[in-house]
Amino acid sequence: MSSENRPSVPNSLNEHWMPFTSNKDFKENPRLITKAEGVYLTNHHGKTMIDASSGLFCNPLGHGRKEIISAITKQLETLDYTQPFQQGFGGSFDLATRISKHTPGNLNRIFYTICGSTAVDTAIKIAIAYHKAKGQGHRFRVVGRERAYHGMNIGGTSVGGMINNVKTFASILMPGVLHMRHTNLSDHKFVSGQPETGAELAEDLERLCANFGAENIAACIVEPTAGSTGCLVPPKGYLQRLREICDKHGILLIFDEVITGWGRMGSEFASQEFGVTPDIMTMAKATTNGVSPMGVVACKEEVYDGIVDNAPKGTIELFHGYTYSGIPVSVAAGLAVQDIIEKDDIFKRVKELSPYFQKAIFTLKDLDVVENIRGYGLMAAVDIKMDQKPGKAGFNCYKQCYESGVNFKATGDALIIAPMFISEKKHIDEIIEKLRTGINNYAKNKKN
Ligand SMILES: Cc1ncc(COP(=O)(O)O)c(C=O)c1O
Repeated sequence: MSSENRPSVPNSLNEHWMPFTSNKDFKENPRLITKAEGVYLTNHHGKTMIDASSGLFCNPLGHGRKEIISAITKQLETLDYTQPFQQGFGGSFDLATRISKHTPGNLNRIFYTICGSTAVDTAIKIAIAYHKAKGQGHRFRVVGRERAYHGMNIGGTSVGGMINNVKTFASILMPGVLHMRHTNLSDHKFVSGQPETGAELAEDLERLCANFGAENIAACIVEPTAGSTGCLVPPKGYLQRLREICDKHGILLIFDEVITGWGRMGSEFASQEFGVTPDIMTMAKATTNGVSPMGVVACKEEVYDGIVDNAPKGTIELFHGYTYSGIPVSVAAGLAVQDIIEKDDIFKRVKELSPYFQKAIFTLKDLDVVENIRGYGLMAAVDIKMDQKPGKAGFNCYKQCYESGVNFKATGDALIIAPMFISEKKHIDEIIEKLRTGINNYAKNKKN
């Protein structure tokens, strides 16, 4: 079949092995999306659904943005690809300049990768390379956190803390990784915003320093708000304390802002929102509004200088990069995103809409099957009470909500809701109403 007359429903579903999917379940009852426009999606039954998770947190500026389509088209017609090693093109430098205007502190050195996973692994490599360049090659350990998600490459899987992602691959993970406890405490029930308790959990890092030798630790990586595990908002003072401990011991602090970056928490990055500046920061997803893959690692100038100035002139300073690092099509999308952020005053918009969303999502508290709700900015998680085994309730509830016309991402038993930044109050109302219907239908069917 030619690519031009491809039907929207394929003849065979067998050959495509889908990622992070229950393939058997899906292929018996597929959920195919045929169209996306603004905050809405259409599925292969012709049903319209509201997109309540901005794709996979990556399309917050809305689907089908004409400005991005036209920038990409123009770019592809002029320069479709150029190799990124030892040569380049102007766009990637322009985008780096514009990104660095939004990054906190002096995180002004921008390294491009392909996605969030490659950004995380790159950030880890940069941390190791930095210490090595500074004569501290003995710092080989990296500290992550339970329930973290840092993508699926070896570095990210190792520092991540979601058990199903780690179990099968235990034998090939990175050596030397240590984990702090997660920050979800039992008294954080139905807390909107930052919990008052839990800052002391940052002392786990101090304890790991004492037990394993701070001089052996290269970096500590956290999602400022843990996203994929179900929106764990940092307790007040927690990130500040991590920063202090890192400073005390010369450990680099990495914020993985793949979900929280570009406005999700209300400020440009969670870093500014929570008032803590990391040494290295990752981003991806919303950088191109999800239309073309791109990951970004922003580094403090000292980190870049530490590596680049320590290498002999004329040599490659960092032996790392990807065929698709900062390719023209992604850069064009990234530049168009920057224009939209400015034109539509996106961060202000998120700040203004967030309280409305937070209030609305917590109205679901009255539903019997809802166990907990957490949220900050334009992100929240609704925990559905476990049914027999972890994940069953979340998946069944997600399917009922899909039928009720609201689409989002569920992890385990948490429904993760992340409305688009361009949403209006009426869209938030629609999301909540359809969630209520979907969750109620799930509860009814469960009893039968
Ligand atoms: C915090 C975080 N880091 C890394 C990743 C991996 O990103 P990608 O799927 O683009 O590789 C994700 C994906 O959701 C993420 O949420």
